[in-house]
Amino acid sequence: MSGFPLQPLPIGPLRVEWPVFLAPMAGFTDGAFRSLCLEQGCGAVVTEMVSAQGLMRHHARTGHYLDTWGGEHPIGAQIYGSDPGVMAAAAARIAEAKTFDFLDINAGCPMPKIRNRGDGAGLMREPAKMAEIVRQVKAAAGGALPVTVKTRIGWCADTVNVMETTAGVEEAGAEAIFLHGRVASVRHSGPSDWNLIAEVKRARKIPVIGNGGVRVAADVFRMVRETGVDGVMVGRVALGNPWLFRDIRDLAAGRAPRRPPAEEVRAAIHEHLRREMDLMARRGKKELKLGAELTACLVLRPHLVRYLRGFRGFGALARTLEERVDAATLLRRVDEVLATGRRGGPAGEEPEAGSPE
Ligand SMILES: Cc1cc2nc3c(=O)[nH]c(=O)nc-3n(C[C@H](O)[C@H](O)[C@H](O)COP(=O)(O)O)c2cc1C
Repeated sequence: MSGFPLQPLPIGPLRVEWPVFLAPMAGFTDGAFRSLCLEQGCGAVVTEMVSAQGLMRHHARTGHYLDTWGGEHPIGAQIYGSDPGVMAAAAARIAEAKTFDFLDINAGCPMPKIRNRGDGAGLMREPAKMAEIVRQVKAAAGGALPVTVKTRIGWCADTVNVMETTAGVEEAGAEAIFLHGRVASVRHSGPSDWNLIAEVKRARKIPVIGNGGVRVAADVFRMVRETGVDGVMVGRVALGNPWLFRDIRDLAAGRAPRRPPAEEVRAAIHEHLRREMDLMARRGKKELKLGAELTACLVLRPHLVRYLRGFRGFGALARTLEERVDAATLLRRVDEVLATGRRGGPAGEEPEAGSPE
């Protein structure tokens, strides 16, 4: 498609050449998956959210949320918390590591245990504190890393205060805003309010990256056209489908998206598991009760459900996913499912790459 409306995006001193971001998704977007998405054309990634408190207390598990596969760029580290001093200290520590290209503050997580103690989405109820966190994080790490905020349009339908919160963080020095067009009370369901995203974009001088409700590659274009955002962040639709980022690039280049043939899905799953095992092997033996291989297989499970959903034999695999199995057994089962072919196509055969869904 010609005239693709996305332009390289400066976020402070950082330049994101292709501002199509993979959204942070706890439990999914670790270094193994992020790196696969980058290889398929994703423009930038963010870590799963990391507790600033946990980081400062040296919780080993918290630290691992910042593990990268290596060569992942541009990449943001996302922290959450509500104590400005602790957030600033965590930001300084992350800046020191020199692994990341920007630092993102989570001001949108709706999970009760997070938001009820004032972290994540809880910050939307205290706009002054949200801005103060940005100010202190900037002071601690802003010299080294651009600081961004990922937030939502409001706490619930009656308290949509995104104009106030985003004005506050802009004034405090944030270099970009990732805006999810849903309120926290609906978590991830229902429509994302692109009209409000457009309004925020018009009101703010710093870049606004829109998020929420991208279901197919073409929606990225639609969001940019309808809202004027500077970039788009894509969440759930990319799970089990890192090729979405290739589709977006293909559309931009005027090429038809190609559905990955079974062999390509197979290669991605095998590689994904290999990277998970590699990441786990870097952890101390004491940390992993089950060992690196079995833990990696467990981590891969929720991804497998998504990689293999359209295949005929998927139901049989899903029923066995609760069992603890080693990598060879898991991959053998994956291969069996892939051999059954996609629903709607002949068993064992794949439509031509590029053929319509
Ligand atoms: C399983 C899951 C985990 C998530 N974890 C995070 C997180 O760690 N940090 C964050 O800012 N948002 C998190 N989100 C929200 C996503 O980043 C994104 O804002 C949301 O899914 C909306 O985008 P989508 O409609 O494209 O999926 C999570 C969402 C899901 C579904």
